[in-house]
Amino acid sequence: MVSEVQAEVDGAQGRAWRERHGWELELAAGRGRLDVPVARELLAALVDGIRGAGGGVARWRVPTATTEHARAASDAGFDGRRRLVRLDRPLPAPPPEPALATRPFVPGADDDEWLRVNRAAFHWHPEQGIWTHEELRARIAEPWFDPEGFLLHPDGPPGSPVHGFCWTKVHDDVDPAVGEIFVIAVDPERAGSGLGRRLVLAGLAHLAGAGLGHAMLYTERDNAPAMALYESLGFSLHHEVQVFTRDVTR
Ligand SMILES: CC(C)(COP(=O)(O)OP(=O)(O)OC[C@H]1O[C@@H](n2cnc3c(N)ncnc32)[C@H](O)[C@@H]1OP(=O)(O)O)[C@@H](O)C(=O)NCCC(=O)NCCS
Repeated sequence: MVSEVQAEVDGAQGRAWRERHGWELELAAGRGRLDVPVARELLAALVDGIRGAGGGVARWRVPTATTEHARAASDAGFDGRRRLVRLDRPLPAPPPEPALATRPFVPGADDDEWLRVNRAAFHWHPEQGIWTHEELRARIAEPWFDPEGFLLHPDGPPGSPVHGFCWTKVHDDVDPAVGEIFVIAVDPERAGSGLGRRLVLAGLAHLAGAGLGHAMLYTERDNAPAMALYESLGFSLHHEVQVFTRDVTR
């Protein structure tokens, strides 16, 4: 199966690589210049390559995108409506009030129940809501995975019902290391009762306890509940990422 497609236009380079739910795209000036006509041509060439490799959803994620990025993407048939934001805050944060009982995720025992809550809470999300056992297992196998930073509430035995979770991730490839709220959700049947706020604070307390001085996360800009929650917890905008998307069918 072809897993990578490359393109070159006047020294500038494009690359697309297969991910679990489609293709990620990247453009670089290389030895050339990445102006609108060149970017448009690179995107068109990558789309052709992806089509030849069987198709799928193509995503070009651009941090702090300009009108030039938007023009090139739109000319190449990409939709730029999806926007992510990276939000940051210093650590420590105040502890959850009242305190929240959590326990670490237990691989194997908690997979089914975690996937149920994840699917229900993210049913609207183009990538997160369609996670499978395979995808979860792949993340668990990553070197950064730490069950101690994957908090489930309540603190019942392994495999017991989950009302909400906060999965954190430590990025120690940057200096100083940064803690991420990687995925957080509350079972929709229990939403709106203060659990989400306490779960984020429990995740932040875990990261601060691990010695981190800074937290970050990504969320969809139009996720109103999440944006309101993070802003009220003192997160502020670091930068925006525009996700230019095109469904490439055969
Ligand atoms: C975001 C989420 C975790 C919030 O959990 P929750 O338990 O419902 O939230 P809480 O009851 O703790 O509310 C905390 C704050 O969130 C905001 N909020 C929660 N629901 C909201 C809604 N429907 N509309 C607007 N703001 C909302 C409010 O600011 C609220 O504070 P307030 O009660 O003082 O007004 C939950 O909605 C969820 O699981 N959503 C789906 C998954 C998701 O989007 N995760 C975040 C992705 S980065």
